[in-house]
Amino acid sequence: MDGQKYILGIESSCDDTSAAVLVDRRVLSNVTANQDIHREYGGVVPELASRAHQENIVPVIDQALKKAGITANQLDGIAYTKGPGLLGALLVGGAFAKSMAQSLDIPLYDVHHMRAHILAHMIENVDSRNPEFPFLCLTVSGGHTQIVRVDSPYDFVLLGQTIDDAAGEAFDKAAKIMGLPYPGGPLIDKYAKSGNPNAFTFGRPNIPDLNFSFSGLKTSFLYTVQNNQQKDSDFVTKNLNDLAASIQFTIVDILMEKLERAVEKTGIDHIAIAGGVSANSELRNRIVSFGKKHGKQTYIPPFSYCTDNGAMIGIVGWYNHQRGLSGKLDEGSLARWEI
Ligand code: KG4
Ligand code: ZN
Repeated sequence: MDGQKYILGIESSCDDTSAAVLVDRRVLSNVTANQDIHREYGGVVPELASRAHQENIVPVIDQALKKAGITANQLDGIAYTKGPGLLGALLVGGAFAKSMAQSLDIPLYDVHHMRAHILAHMIENVDSRNPEFPFLCLTVSGGHTQIVRVDSPYDFVLLGQTIDDAAGEAFDKAAKIMGLPYPGGPLIDKYAKSGNPNAFTFGRPNIPDLNFSFSGLKTSFLYTVQNNQQKDSDFVTKNLNDLAASIQFTIVDILMEKLERAVEKTGIDHIAIAGGVSANSELRNRIVSFGKKHGKQTYIPPFSYCTDNGAMIGIVGWYNHQRGLSGKLDEGSLARWEI
């Protein structure tokens, strides 16, 4: 496969409509339309997400092509998120990608959303260095929490995952309990900066192996808030920073404990984080200090590639292109799909 290849990446699995153009492993444009509509509902409303994707998809792709300085006719392939995610949302990106690939007569590449979060680390201009294989990746988003061994851009082994809520959900649910809008993760991160992480302690899960659980933590947080609110109705307002710092510290500590165990168990020296929660400042600091202390190489994605984006879909498309792994026009999207 000689010569430069232009790949369009389209992401529509949840509440961000995003498109990017890559030339080989380099990102030329990465355009995202966030959906503010969900804020007032305290979470993503699937039907509203699909409708917003329908409104956003044409302008977002149009802008991505313009910013990249190319026309659709110059594309060599189109990559789209086939799953996992909200089915109605996935179908919008899928249908658009398929009709565009068919009309341009170029290959279509189906992309696994969680593999894409991980392979965002392989984008050429992501950082001065990309991870070496094999590497371990803690993949933390609103829907998933996994520890994955990445043997190559095509080989992923799931070592552990959450048995209930995802880490991002734990952040968002705690934020909701405190009356903060969706998505609450970034707000907890912000308030935590001025809070004491040891002000409150919460019940910790006791889950074997490399698996996680966050639903008990949510309940413990809820009880702490409710019990204190009975004594003082202004409890949350008065303790917002400390509550945010304490729940953030606990979530990150649970994640780090299992990641450190995975490093010990596998002996792998290259460790990455990926997904929306990898934007969290406490998690970023903790993984960097862990790496320094134990002589491991750590990889942290730039903020633009942490939350959902088209560039991460495009890079997987490029890898699939290298192997001629094209998708089929008659295959449907998948709400659930193992990594
Ligand atoms: O990867 P992503 O954009 O979408 C999914 O695939 O789910 O992740 C979104 C999740 C949300 O739960 C959001 O609250 C969380 O990532 N998140 C954060 C931060 N930024 C985004 N959580 C904690 N701290 C942050 N700075
Ligand atoms: Zn995601």
